[in-house]
Amino acid sequence: MNQRENFGSRAAVIMAMAGSAIGLGNIWRFPYILGEYGGAAFILLYIAASLLVALPIFFAESVIGRRSRSNAYGALQKLAPGTRWRWAGILTILSPLLILSYYSVVGGWSVQYLFKSLSFDFTSAAPEAVSGFFSSFISSTWQPILSHTVFIALVAGIVLGGVKKGIEKFSNIAMPVLFVLILVLIVYSLTLPGSSKGVSYLLKPDFSKLNADAFAAALGQAFFSLSLGVGTILTYSSYVKKEENLIVSGIGTAASDLVFAIMAAFAVIPAVFAAGIEPGAGPGLVFETLPFIFNKMAGAAPVVSSIISIVFFVAILAAALTSAISMLEVGVAFLTEEKGFKRVPATLLLAFFTWLVGILCSLSFGPMSGVKILGDTFFDFLDHLCSNWLMPAGGLVFTLFVGWKMSKASVRDELTNGGRCNAVSYKFFYYLIRFVAPVGIVAVSLTNLLL
Ligand code: PFF
Repeated sequence: MNQRENFGSRAAVIMAMAGSAIGLGNIWRFPYILGEYGGAAFILLYIAASLLVALPIFFAESVIGRRSRSNAYGALQKLAPGTRWRWAGILTILSPLLILSYYSVVGGWSVQYLFKSLSFDFTSAAPEAVSGFFSSFISSTWQPILSHTVFIALVAGIVLGGVKKGIEKFSNIAMPVLFVLILVLIVYSLTLPGSSKGVSYLLKPDFSKLNADAFAAALGQAFFSLSLGVGTILTYSSYVKKEENLIVSGIGTAASDLVFAIMAAFAVIPAVFAAGIEPGAGPGLVFETLPFIFNKMAGAAPVVSSIISIVFFVAILAAALTSAISMLEVGVAFLTEEKGFKRVPATLLLAFFTWLVGILCSLSFGPMSGVKILGDTFFDFLDHLCSNWLMPAGGLVFTLFVGWKMSKASVRDELTNGGRCNAVSYKFFYYLIRFVAPVGIVAVSLTNLLL
């Protein structure tokens, strides 16, 4: 049996967990979803969904992980030996690998965009060339596969280093850098002429867009953004020391994730308004609209604009990497602890698997765009499968396990550190874990099914 590692300090725990949480979901997805569902009004809904449903799931995973000190599969087997719960563990080993395979394709886009920025392509080319670049790039065959390969190789390289020397060290450097980069971007965005319309859009709530669909979107986004239901938080929590306060690190993680999503919105949306573009520009917002903006602004200040585009894509890449390593670690922990693998072969094997599946995802924007599964391209199918079904299913399993299967005494023990802290918040969250979160998940799944 391999020796288990731990994160070194509370700051390291929060950095690594926030690293998993803060990713493409915050910078790429949140601003355009916000654009679609009415700006500030959606933020309020998002906060409610995070507090009432997402955070309880986060704590359920934390309790299982730290109590068992095991990978996602071993954890359920250890805490409920001989029961069927372990099959749910298998699900949560598979889901993050599936997510990683399409996440890595988008991660690869950011690698490619960083190269483009470094060679001043966005700021020196003609506007038509820049706006047409995204669709011709993603629909080509080799370039996106190459970028996806580079991204997966980076992820594997970090995970090979282990929990302390790989994941912890990388997150400790990348997260503060990311924070500074986003601040730079906000300042830039807010100083562009015409950006104030974007600010008032973000601050003035439009409640007319808040329907059941918006609620499902808010919860789906909270799930994705906090990396829930797929064993990542469980696995990271298994590396958290006994004396650490789980509620404090969970709230720290969720708060930084939320603050970061809002910061990303303030970096993107005002710039979008300044360029006279509609905010709800869909998934192309970051990869299509922003290069266009960098190009447009280059006329007045080419150097600043080039630097900003580099800063932007370094930020996206850093955020994507800290999330992607957490997805790979779930499977690596499983193979090393349950199947006797050493870390190196386990990492390489899983990286290879996700690379192969990722190639299909990448091709689904081009040569394989006509291949449909249940009406979706391969990329969209995996995204819908994971975001709408596997993540909520995992979240439901974890809350039911902690709320109804584990003894109340052991849950209390984990969340209060043996009765030493959090007496009141423990009661609040235990109630949410047992009742509110499972009902919320089922309600949203039904909404997804019916809409
Ligand atoms: N939370 C990440 C993001 O917002 O980009 C995505 C993610 C990470 C999903 C880890 C799932 C996961 F296991």
